[in-house]
Amino acid sequence: MSIDLAIIPVAGLGTRLLPATKSQPKEMLPVGRKPVVQYVVEELTKSGIRRLLFITSRGKTSIEYHFDSDNELVSYLRQTGREEQLRDVVFSHAEQGVEFFYTRQREQRGLGHAVLCARPLVGDEPCVVALGDSIIGIHAQSNIVARMVEEFERTGADLVVAFEEVPAKDVVHYGIAEPKGSAGRVFELADVVEKPAVGEAPSNLAVAARYVFSPAIFPALAETPPGKGNEIQLTDAIRRLLRQGHKGIGIRLEASERRFDVGNFATYFRTFIEFALADEELGSELREFVAGLLAEEPRG
Ligand code: G1P
Repeated sequence: MSIDLAIIPVAGLGTRLLPATKSQPKEMLPVGRKPVVQYVVEELTKSGIRRLLFITSRGKTSIEYHFDSDNELVSYLRQTGREEQLRDVVFSHAEQGVEFFYTRQREQRGLGHAVLCARPLVGDEPCVVALGDSIIGIHAQSNIVARMVEEFERTGADLVVAFEEVPAKDVVHYGIAEPKGSAGRVFELADVVEKPAVGEAPSNLAVAARYVFSPAIFPALAETPPGKGNEIQLTDAIRRLLRQGHKGIGIRLEASERRFDVGNFATYFRTFIEFALADEELGSELREFVAGLLAEEPRG
């Protein structure tokens, strides 16, 4: 794959998950056995990404520690014969040639501004943007990013965005696509709008946390004024590019590639339950336990 660089914004405050996120990043919340951001990294490296540039902020250093080699832990596990745990903490990133880079967003000015913080490091290269709080597909088995890059190259577009259908009432939480004509599996974008009101949404296709951009995104972001929530929105920069005549492509996630979002408790709880129930070793026992709980007489 020609694009091997991904920007992973992880700078958000996680206010919708307080108090869990008071002193730990939402991207480090566990989903089953792993923190959310580990699934994102596994998905990206499976799709051929080799350089991961995290946009962090205050309070996010545990993400950096998580992907470091921890020689003390490794030798302790080795000395005490814990081979199984050893496999879980030794990432094969070095052998795969995967490198980690970190830079900080110094002020909370929105997702678009976080991506713009990567500009001096990315320069004139196309890149992937993958939001660090969204897992694509159960156990992150998706190759959506590889498919998006293929489409980026095939069509010569300046941007490719992944979309998923959401219920009409939920459009208020997402960037929403206006497709040119009818939207098949792959479609051309006429416009995108960030978190429209229910009656004003051009479709129910929601931006699904994965993007591919040509370097044209950076000047567009630099010119984008604050929008929804008084923040610089990535969606608004995409809109700007489309209005300037740049080509934008949308790709729908497949049914097996549902997006698991950990941005609020309702979606985080569901995500955790689904991943725990799919756990190879403990899932079936847990299923019985949950079924037992559900069958109990309601208390109170
Ligand atoms: C962000 C984007 C939005 C997108 C969503 C999920 O919103 O601004 O366009 O649909 O991620 O990928 P947030 O969840 O940060 O409010």
